[in-house]
Amino acid sequence: MAKAKWLVEICGLPFTVCRLKLSPRVVIALLICGCLTLAACYKKPAAMPSDSQLKAYDTEQDWNDPQHLIPLNYLQAEGKRVFYNNCVWCHADTTPAGPSNRGNLTPTPALMDDGATLNGLSDEFMQNIITLGGSAMGRSAMMPPWGRTLTPDEIRAVVAYARAVAQPPYRPPSSRAKDAD
Ligand code: HEC
Repeated sequence: MAKAKWLVEICGLPFTVCRLKLSPRVVIALLICGCLTLAACYKKPAAMPSDSQLKAYDTEQDWNDPQHLIPLNYLQAEGKRVFYNNCVWCHADTTPAGPSNRGNLTPTPALMDDGATLNGLSDEFMQNIITLGGSAMGRSAMMPPWGRTLTPDEIRAVVAYARAVAQPPYRPPSSRAKDAD
């Protein structure tokens, strides 16, 4: 019976208003206030992560566009960890600890997302220069060798990470060959 009582009360509202002798203007003002209060409580639902991001192990913010999150698979996510532990100091402009060392180096190391420079290098060359260092590859010795610090899997992972964040995007040789048909 509680429901019926509630209904009676709601239906009786106009009479109550009449009995209080509220002018229509006051009633309208009260209604508007009520609506505004309700509108203020309404929250926009938070943006849902896209499907590919739900499946990803991690994401990386696009270095040039903070609105764009790049989903990372397992290997790329592992590479992100390797990168921020070892390479960020020379291959990015900012690091989690502040400005990087990149501007002090000659030659200036490529940014790890610099697709224009890195997309043209084969995975094999990338792995070799990371493992053996710049001087072993006829490049600057300012690029240290990582073969004793990182495992071959970690080196493959950091290359996969560089490919994932590359701008312009990296296209593996197999997909490039398909376009040529
Ligand atoms: C102490 C600074 C320093 C650190 C740390 C460092 N690099 Fe480098 N890296 C360089 C420099 C300088 C070059 C440029 C060598 C040249 O062009 O002669 C370079 C070149 C490279 C290249 C070749 C790019 C090109 O332009 O041909 C790759 C790939 C690379 N580094 C990957 C890495 C990775 C991955 C890490 C972390 C595991 C790393 N580097 C850590 C300084 C560094």
